Amino acid sequence: MIKPHGGKLVDRFVEGKERETLEKRIPEMPRMKLNERELADYEMIATGAMSPLEGFMTQDDYKSVLDLMRLDKGLPWTIPVVFSCKGDSSGVKEGQDIALEDPDGNVLGVLHVEDKFPIDKIQEAEKVLLTRDDAHPGAQYLQSIGDTYLGGRISAVSRPKHTTFLNYRLDPKETRVLFKAKGWNTITAFQTRNPIHRAHEYLQKCALEIVDGLLIHPLMGATKSDDIPGEVRMECYEVLLANYYPKTRTTISVFPAAMRYAGPREAIFHALVRKNYGCSHLIVGRDHAGVGDYYGTYDAHYIFREFDPGEIDITPLFFDHAFFCTRCGNMASVKTCPHGSDDHVFLSGTKVRKMLSEGQLPPAEFTRPEVSEILMKHARPKEK
Ligand code: ADX
Repeated sequence: MIKPHGGKLVDRFVEGKERETLEKRIPEMPRMKLNERELADYEMIATGAMSPLEGFMTQDDYKSVLDLMRLDKGLPWTIPVVFSCKGDSSGVKEGQDIALEDPDGNVLGVLHVEDKFPIDKIQEAEKVLLTRDDAHPGAQYLQSIGDTYLGGRISAVSRPKHTTFLNYRLDPKETRVLFKAKGWNTITAFQTRNPIHRAHEYLQKCALEIVDGLLIHPLMGATKSDDIPGEVRMECYEVLLANYYPKTRTTISVFPAAMRYAGPREAIFHALVRKNYGCSHLIVGRDHAGVGDYYGTYDAHYIFREFDPGEIDITPLFFDHAFFCTRCGNMASVKTCPHGSDDHVFLSGTKVRKMLSEGQLPPAEFTRPEVSEILMKHARPKEK
């Protein structure tokens, strides 16, 4: 099976004596809350999904990621994984331990502060998001946080309490065991933050023609407010899996990360992290992890050229824009279809929302009717 990024799956949960000692010290530590994105990052660091990261980035890693798309020691890494100081940072000292809390005030673990440094919001936005536009959800996130990051390793005592998708939460060690048990040697991950439409299904099934197994790995961390909620999406995934996917070759599990909408850089991040889950391949289609018009349709493909395939290791499966062609009578892309765009059924998310709001089901060529019905059932009252 593919090796984790950096060679070793990180596990930051402390056990036994070390845990006892830490738990005794926690009441004396200052406390800070993890926001929604940081909470997801904390869990992914602890479980090894972010391997080789053992904590939130220090300034050396942060700067190196921004400037070179690599960690300070040279391994490819494209997205900052950082913890923003809450409240006054003047009292925080390097070498100090801080108890990290979930938004309800439950202590989950400890940040061993190694570094305290100013957030370079302009550089971070320009380099990671490739824009400083206030309308970009990633730029809005940057504006919502303070002005100092705290970096250092974490020691996890417990994990965030989840109330949803409990049957679908597998850590990297567990997906690796699952793939082995299923006898899959090659596994493609499918990243998504949307319901699965026919184009997604087409990509997945093309991939299934060449690999042993498909991991549908929907992102269930923070997304922007107009994205379809995770619960609704999960209902869509379940109905599709039950009716249209080969049971012995498909599995689904939650990807806990928050969405950054960083397009190409996020595609590399998605690939590295899926490698940690044991996937040998990742599907990368049109405008992967994009939003609005900030990225070129295939920028998320081109960015892979910036790295030696051996250092990324997981193999990207690049797909062109897919659509249903009414003349071909099947799903296709410009690589396989000779007809013009007038024959192609493609709807934007905005168009689909508008149709649902007008009580119209999107066409079956775009979305399976079972999925449309679920989307219609959950369309927001103002949309209905
Ligand atoms: S993403 O933010 O998670 O990338 P989305 O859920 O829409 O958004 O996409 C999931 C994957 O399917 C991504 O790899 C994306 O590039 C790809 N994709 C989405 N729609 C199409 C399409 N019509 N043709 C080709 N690839 C697509």
